[in-house]
Amino acid sequence: MIIHSLHAEKILDSRGNWTVRAYVNGISGTAPSGASTGTYEAKVIPADRAVDIINTKLQRLVGENFNQIDADILIETIDGTDNFEKIGGNTAIAVSFAVFNAIHNSTKITKKIFPYPLGNVFGGGAHGGATSFQEFLALPTKAKSIYEALDSNVELHHRLRETLNKKVKTVGINDEGALTADIDDLKALDIITDIAEDVGCRIGLDVAASEFFNKGQYTYRSLKKTLSPEDQLDFLTETAKKYRLIYLEDPFDENDFKNTQELTKKIGNRCFVCGDDLFVTDEKRLQRGIDTKTANSLIIKPNQVGTVSLAQDTVSLAKKHDITPIISHRSAETVDSTISRLALFWSAPIIKAGVIDMRISKLNELIRLWNMAETPKMAKLNK
Ligand code: PGA
Ligand code: ZN
Repeated sequence: MIIHSLHAEKILDSRGNWTVRAYVNGISGTAPSGASTGTYEAKVIPADRAVDIINTKLQRLVGENFNQIDADILIETIDGTDNFEKIGGNTAIAVSFAVFNAIHNSTKITKKIFPYPLGNVFGGGAHGGATSFQEFLALPTKAKSIYEALDSNVELHHRLRETLNKKVKTVGINDEGALTADIDDLKALDIITDIAEDVGCRIGLDVAASEFFNKGQYTYRSLKKTLSPEDQLDFLTETAKKYRLIYLEDPFDENDFKNTQELTKKIGNRCFVCGDDLFVTDEKRLQRGIDTKTANSLIIKPNQVGTVSLAQDTVSLAKKHDITPIISHRSAETVDSTISRLALFWSAPIIKAGVIDMRISKLNELIRLWNMAETPKMAKLNK
């Protein structure tokens, strides 16, 4: 594809912060942003600067014939650092997404295997809410179609809202459209798992443990307890068993490969033990995970590494070693739906993209692709 034009503008994201939207041949890509960001993620620069860099330095892409990899390599070369220190990972991903969308705009994505939507229904931690666990997630494992899958997740969200409204004084909504209430982590699990069975969902957690790890201890505010890493291992093992959890993300601090490995050994045959801040979509960190048998799945957030191609390298490495890649949104989003097309393109069995609010752009994109595909099928989950 020849890049005839490249330009950018700043737009608002779902938290009301400025972000960057790039256009390649009139087709857009937008950078999302996180709140519980991993230490090892690509650097983010202010939206104004990102726009400026795209409209000046990155104009070197214009006039050339590119595939995705060559465009992404040139973006990396223009930056010249390991972590997009100069041009920003947000600048890079906006352009890289736009290149992907421009290349695949006219060719239909013909994949038939659809990812299960993993949806955040209740939350706390850095996204707002009383619990220390950051996200309580629904996975509609019984669904036979994308419609059934999305139906189960919204049904769970709706019923949970009704139940909470009856039981607690104030029910709120946090960054990703997840519900919040003044209940502790275990009470929340009790209530959610009761409803989940009825609507055909299994439950998972994004512990996002780095966010409440301080001086070697995990402090659970509303449970009023502080756990050592060993106690955290026992607590999560029991919790996973009691609530039949199918998914546990970042169960320990982002530098703790050892305890994540222990947990994987204990529950990994029946639960996706997943690294987000642990791996930050980075091929080298994932390789370390593979070498040490740490985690059996990982979150792929393309903006953590800055380009579609770098994220794709990590997806390929994961697949080669039977690590399940889970393509994910960030807590601050726009209506950009690139990750839905990427999930299909990479045949990822799970996509983490919320349940309601702005996330419907990604979910509705899955519906569009489902309706376009001949004989579409849901992916196989190995748990
Ligand atoms: P984010 O976190 O706020 O960094 O996007 C979401 C997550 O931890 O999965
Ligand atoms: Zn996470």
